[in-house]
Amino acid sequence: MRQVIFTGFSPNLTWRDVKTAGVFLLHPLRWKNLNRGVAVEAAENKLSAYFGFPVVTFDSGRSALYFALRALGVGDGDEVLVQAYTCVVVINAIRFAGARPVYVDIKDDFTMDPDDARRKLTGRARALIIQHTFGQGADLTALLALARAQGLGVVEDAAHSFGARYQGKLAGTWGDIGMLSFGSDKVLSSVRGGALVVVNAKLLDRVRGWQEKLPAMPIAVVLQHLLHLPFFWWGKRWYGYGIGKWFLYAAKKLNLTNKIIYPAEKRGEAVSFFPSRLPNALACLLLPQINDAAAVNEHRRGIAAIYRRQITNPLAIHPPEDESSVYLRYTIRLPAGADPLVRFAKERGILLGDWYTAVIAPADSDQAAAGYAEGSCPAAERLAPQSVNLPTDRLITESAASFISAIVNSYGA
Ligand SMILES: Cc1ncc(COP(=O)(O)O)c(C=O)c1O
Repeated sequence: MRQVIFTGFSPNLTWRDVKTAGVFLLHPLRWKNLNRGVAVEAAENKLSAYFGFPVVTFDSGRSALYFALRALGVGDGDEVLVQAYTCVVVINAIRFAGARPVYVDIKDDFTMDPDDARRKLTGRARALIIQHTFGQGADLTALLALARAQGLGVVEDAAHSFGARYQGKLAGTWGDIGMLSFGSDKVLSSVRGGALVVVNAKLLDRVRGWQEKLPAMPIAVVLQHLLHLPFFWWGKRWYGYGIGKWFLYAAKKLNLTNKIIYPAEKRGEAVSFFPSRLPNALACLLLPQINDAAAVNEHRRGIAAIYRRQITNPLAIHPPEDESSVYLRYTIRLPAGADPLVRFAKERGILLGDWYTAVIAPADSDQAAAGYAEGSCPAAERLAPQSVNLPTDRLITESAASFISAIVNSYGA
């Protein structure tokens, strides 16, 4: 059998998660606790202690973002500045709040370009979303100065940067409110989940009030999220035999597992069963992971350092060196286009995936429904197809990172 290395595919998944899911899945008498239990409050308390501000959980980062914008007073006719090279669900959150996304171009490090933000400002702008793409810190000093000067509310999108400290201060605590994601590709993962770090105390009652009124996640949907764990655990193990791929495909087709982004969301439409509260069962997955965050991020930095040292292919451009980045992915660029390298690596057992290959990811999202006007962010349009995500998660050993580096080096040689 050939060993397969993945960038995506639930990269943080551990046996502990599979066991936690099993405790619920194998005991239908415990299904009454899928939504009800003490884990959500325990996770919120632990996260609040971690950040030093109240933390309120939701079913996902996208739902959390929607409530963050509403808490800042964003509504009909308002504009929200957001970087191009983001996820379609970020745009949906803005649109569902009644506002119009205004796309700001990016710098070579995939974060927002403050000069373009200044150019794109109009009198209708109400809020700014600052995203730390792949864990790389955005230019907080310039962007916050701009927001303060214009009286904009600031949401910090820390979906990719749990535990990162920029200039010594935790990601998620710089703006009025910080958004966290616990989706399956993130630093911490409960398959699905999200939260708000409420820095501006004036927003807390509203955010908490909305959370309390939310419905529970439908039980069938919670079960799908839990089933994700055993399916991916064994699907990844059997992938090299060929059957793992079909196993995961069948699970998806039979609706046994969740979707990270639902087809309706890619068309810019809402999904009926969200927003909802974070289920107890998913909080049980999250809770022990909070203790692991520092070690997980240290590991990611170590793997990133190996890529930086060992990848010497002149066709590849490294991300800027940034000590504060948590390198959710180590994203290199191939100015001639990334697809051939992705295919080359796949033939050698490395699935680098296609996360963030378009201005609005995933690439099959309806870019027009998202209100993106082609040509409005030329750097994002140029950089997106050049980017390749190398994995840094806890399953990537030093020798796997060296193997990946060698494959990248042999490309085009
Ligand atoms: C930058 C960014 N923000 C927000 C989100 C949404 O997070 P969630 O999947 O928890 O809704 C994502 C999802 O990948 C993302 O990439």
